[in-house]
Amino acid sequence: MFLVTGATGSLGRRIVRQLRDQGKSVRAFVRLTSNYEELEDRGAEIFIGDLKQDKDIAKACQGVKYIISSHGSGSNAQALDYRANIELIDCAKENQVEHFVFISVLGVDRGYQDSATFKAKREVEKYLMKSGLNYTILRPSGFANNLLPLAERFRETGIYLLIGDPQHRSSIVSTDDLATIAIASVETSAAKNRIFAVGGPNILTREDIPRIFARLFNKEPIIINPPLALFDGLRSGLGLINPQLQKSLGTLRTLLAHEFFCTAEEIALLEFTFNMQMESLESFLLRYLGSN
Ligand SMILES: NC(=O)c1ccc[n+]([C@@H]2O[C@H](COP(=O)([O-])OP(=O)(O)OC[C@H]3O[C@@H](n4cnc5c(N)ncnc54)[C@H](OP(=O)(O)O)[C@@H]3O)[C@@H](O)[C@H]2O)c1
Repeated sequence: MFLVTGATGSLGRRIVRQLRDQGKSVRAFVRLTSNYEELEDRGAEIFIGDLKQDKDIAKACQGVKYIISSHGSGSNAQALDYRANIELIDCAKENQVEHFVFISVLGVDRGYQDSATFKAKREVEKYLMKSGLNYTILRPSGFANNLLPLAERFRETGIYLLIGDPQHRSSIVSTDDLATIAIASVETSAAKNRIFAVGGPNILTREDIPRIFARLFNKEPIIINPPLALFDGLRSGLGLINPQLQKSLGTLRTLLAHEFFCTAEEIALLEFTFNMQMESLESFLLRYLGSN
């Protein structure tokens, strides 16, 4: 039995779908308020709970062999990115879980102080490595599915909003590939107790993205490119009214201000270890949206 947290999220849903396609048993940790009907229809065991509640985590971990932690945090990094994962690791130990897969983030080890999520994920990584559990830590770059609504808008309007430096590089990863790797991690001996950077096969600059959209939809892009300073100004203004919101924008600020890409060696290692070819962003978009 796999326990998947964040089972209704972009990544978690794909993990549950693939596990069920492979005929594997999966317990999907979901909130009552979320839409989990599809997971139930696919034969996942639905566990309704809240990751802020330790007793829910303890109950969900009973009798599971593998845990894939793929939940997000909204604006509550302390409770969800940090505390819930520590609790999951402790419960995994109590239940003699065989393998723990943790979805971290690319660049987590660079010490970005403005993002509570980055800091929490780094602390969880350290805790997991010292836990004595078998683990795999995956550090993905931005998910390709994040771009689907932007591509849809582009298809309608030709407009693309690009905040910050257009030359910044990224390695957008197919969310389906990441789900495949998360699942394969538990039975790939070369993935045991390892950390992997996970990205797509190509290093893309930010301005490559509207170019890809333009190719797919045969439309000239209208790129709106406000500088990062404008975002900073708005964030400071918001901070006067809502300091908590200003803080929680720290992760977005970190993502906008820095480059997050995998080296060719990191992608080669990933493809070799998991015996797969990473999908390009263009192919992902084509699969989901078609062209024109
Ligand atoms: N998106 C990216 O580009 C990216 C890049 C690198 C790393 N990551 C990491 O990858 C992981 C998955 O990201 P994602 O984009 O798939 O996340 P997502 O779509 O935002 O989904 C978040 C999931 O966490 C669940 N969740 C939130 N609070 C919860 C609570 N209190 N109790 C139970 N469940 C709760 C949500 O449930 P509801 O449906 O009930 O809201 C949802 O299923 C995260 O750890 C994220 O930090 C993401």
